[in-house]
Amino acid sequence: MAEATEKIQFSPEAMELVQKQIAKFPEGKHKSALLSILHIAQAELGGWLSPEVMDYVATILKIEPIEVYEVATFYSQYYTEPVGKYVFEVCHTGPCHLRGSDEIIAYMERKLGIKKGETTPDGMFTIKGVECLAACGSAPMMQCGLHYHEHLTEESVDKLLDDFKKENKISRPFPN
Ligand code: FES
Repeated sequence: MAEATEKIQFSPEAMELVQKQIAKFPEGKHKSALLSILHIAQAELGGWLSPEVMDYVATILKIEPIEVYEVATFYSQYYTEPVGKYVFEVCHTGPCHLRGSDEIIAYMERKLGIKKGETTPDGMFTIKGVECLAACGSAPMMQCGLHYHEHLTEESVDKLLDDFKKENKISRPFPN
């Protein structure tokens, strides 16, 4: 483990942000910064949380790696496998399902030539099915990075894909 974590390090800017998150909590409660630090790690260290990255976060917070793993594997916003630059987290819970999320996912799969859970060979897009994102009134919907995309239709999916291909930049949650 030590050997693997040696290769992984936050940039000075990211470490400053990490320290800012830690400073928000009193001595002995620094573990509370874990969620924020995982977002920073994911954005900074390759776009996903490898075991080595999670071990590195554990060393920073002086907690056991298992404490990081159990949080990272619980929330769908953290990726424990490599993903594309854009991750389409399509809600497939009841209300979205009733409003056609399966059809939206199938349409995306056809357009991108991949199945749910997969990433396009160019590393651009990943499709994920996730549980309720609390925007049921705008079903069907998905999250990509910081943004919700609601009332999805085949036409709006086409436009989003075109925009993302043109934009070609990362949009991931990153706390400040
Ligand atoms: Fe999709 Fe709630 S069921 S946002």
